Amino acid sequence: MMSGQAFAVPALDTTDLRSSHDTLVALGQRLAAADYRFITPTPLTHQRVNEREANQTALSLRDVFGWSRPFPATLLPPDELDALVAAVIVVSHARSFISRVRWSSLGDLSLVHSAFPTTDEDSVFFGPDTYRFAQSIRDQLNRTFTPIKRAVDIGCGSGAGALVIARAHPHAQVFAVDINPKALHFARVNAEVAGCQNVECLESDILQGVQGDLDLIVANPPYMKDARQRAYRHGGDALGADLSVRIVRESLPRLAVGGALVLYTGVAMVGGDDPFFAAVKADIAGPSWAWTYRELDPDVFGEELLEDGYQDVERIAAVELVVRRV
Ligand SMILES: C[S@@+](CC[C@H](N)C(=O)[O-])C[C@H]1O[C@@H](n2cnc3c(N)ncnc32)[C@H](O)[C@@H]1O
Repeated sequence: MMSGQAFAVPALDTTDLRSSHDTLVALGQRLAAADYRFITPTPLTHQRVNEREANQTALSLRDVFGWSRPFPATLLPPDELDALVAAVIVVSHARSFISRVRWSSLGDLSLVHSAFPTTDEDSVFFGPDTYRFAQSIRDQLNRTFTPIKRAVDIGCGSGAGALVIARAHPHAQVFAVDINPKALHFARVNAEVAGCQNVECLESDILQGVQGDLDLIVANPPYMKDARQRAYRHGGDALGADLSVRIVRESLPRLAVGGALVLYTGVAMVGGDDPFFAAVKADIAGPSWAWTYRELDPDVFGEELLEDGYQDVERIAAVELVVRRV
């Protein structure tokens, strides 16, 4: 994604996070009480806005916890700053401070995830893809009459998808699964801040850690070919399509009758062809499945086309596949 970084933020490791759970929950609640709102843009936009002369020092909570800008001690009450520093959520940076987490708004939810730039191996993603993914889930919830008793968000990251489902179906058992323990820590904080007690966060490679049939499976997996193979963006071989194909193949057998898979992903289009759809077409053929497939945005992350391996790719499209077991 981005290599340039305006402000270096030291990594937050899992041990720090475990001990900072309560402080993060309190911070989330305090931001909600202050009507905090921040919509996360693409990394390129984030970098461009932060590089402006006037944006070198934070002047507000949005600048600190949304834009990841360094801030003076005077911006937060001393007790709060002390608690955040003790929990290593905030660290000193030159002669100021910087937050190691970011908070983004999704409807009336506030979700914690990694600070900008998300360069660490275990960074926890939230971005414009998350907004499109959440809309795909809402669309599915609005058009289905199938009762949702058990649902899972595969590759939950901050838990955005799981929380959209859990809010709409408070009696459903909702699993938020990921292979990144840091993502699960953030997802637990976010579920608590949202007051969703029906979300269970589990370490799981796709659905291997979840038993039984499911009424709704949603996923916004990584879909890039990432040279550093970071979990939040590396989708494996076939220019990042492999993981999305695996999710389709491992999810369909787990759907209850009437249940649906909502897969939001990105596809590297080559020579007018869609290699992801070509790979899954046979899996969703036949009388057991009803499906829709559409491009939500024909051209995302154009800067990736400059990366190694993308020389034959003409565009990366954001797509939505919905498959229902009939
Ligand atoms: C692009 S992020 C999306 C996060 C979140 N769903 C969202 O929409 O904001 C993809 C997530 O998938 C997770 N992931 C990658 N491979 C996985 C796998 N094999 N099983 C489960 N999760 C995986 C990553 O750790 C990352 O948190």
